[in-house]
Amino acid sequence: MQRLPQVLQSQLLQPALITLLATLADGCRDIARQISRGAVAGVLGNAGAENVQGEAQKKLDVIANDILKALLLAEPSVRALASEEETEIVAANPDGRFLVAFDPLDGSSNIDINGSVGTIFSIFEAPGATPVTEADFLRPGRQQIAAGYVLYGPSVMLALTAGQGVQFYTLDPVSNEFLLTSERVAIPAQTQEFAINMSNQRFWAEPMRRYIADLLLGKDGPRKKNFNMRWVAAMVSDVHRILCRGGIFSYPWDRREPDKPGKLRLMYEANPMALLIERAGGEAWTDAAKILDLQPEHIHQRVPVILGSAEEVLHCISYHTGR
Ligand code: F6P
Ligand code: MN
Repeated sequence: MQRLPQVLQSQLLQPALITLLATLADGCRDIARQISRGAVAGVLGNAGAENVQGEAQKKLDVIANDILKALLLAEPSVRALASEEETEIVAANPDGRFLVAFDPLDGSSNIDINGSVGTIFSIFEAPGATPVTEADFLRPGRQQIAAGYVLYGPSVMLALTAGQGVQFYTLDPVSNEFLLTSERVAIPAQTQEFAINMSNQRFWAEPMRRYIADLLLGKDGPRKKNFNMRWVAAMVSDVHRILCRGGIFSYPWDRREPDKPGKLRLMYEANPMALLIERAGGEAWTDAAKILDLQPEHIHQRVPVILGSAEEVLHCISYHTGR
């Protein structure tokens, strides 16, 4: 099996990007080690602070952020970073060519139950001008030059899109290397599986309520087929399942906090996942537009997310657009 750097070299990526991706992989290996030590290393539970989103930080949120931040600040090719756990962007090397946005530990409510969690990252080419500002990050996701996630599950897996298509790598605990285990990930266009937090149903907009109600009617309803439901409550795991076998995933707009148009963050959750999903043949939308075409307004912006198997996502969008 090919090692990660070998595959990236064969995709003819620029050497600086290969080095950066290898650095991110190194950081995620460290995070994986901390997660697997769990209570033995005293890394479970709350850190006792809140992040910029007003969410209680877990110790592992802070540990994962510190690991990636330290590595990226030491990486000559990184101009600046943006993280879910950092209020502002953090400037790195003025000569760096890349901007990196990341969610250091996605799905952190799973930490204390020994459930799957992940790390998500998105990379842009840095603009020429210095000093770097938040505005430099605010570009449509279609301009990402690479994106991916690491899933800390029964196996540690990396999903990456940088040159061509989407690849899966599995961390081999024997050699400590990420080895290529799926060369061309492709999402089936049709599905009978959906992922959504049903407990929020009463807060959804009417089109989403109608769409899910029709799925629940199964064979007896307008869809004329039964649907199954899955919800891991860690976006990395739910998206991984969709890349493996198809499905539709949504964290839709809801009216709990009308000034927050969704839960998931555009720059380090929706954008990187949308690039992976589109490159694997799927669709990724808010309720009205393709996620990758959105013009971001700030680094911690939230958006509704509907992504997965192409035909199913477009069917769901048709409830929203009336077309
Ligand atoms: O990062 C936010 C997140 O943890 C996602 O990973 C996940 O999809 C979602 O929140 C789960 O939200 P809820 O707890 O509302 O189901
Ligand atoms: Mn997250």
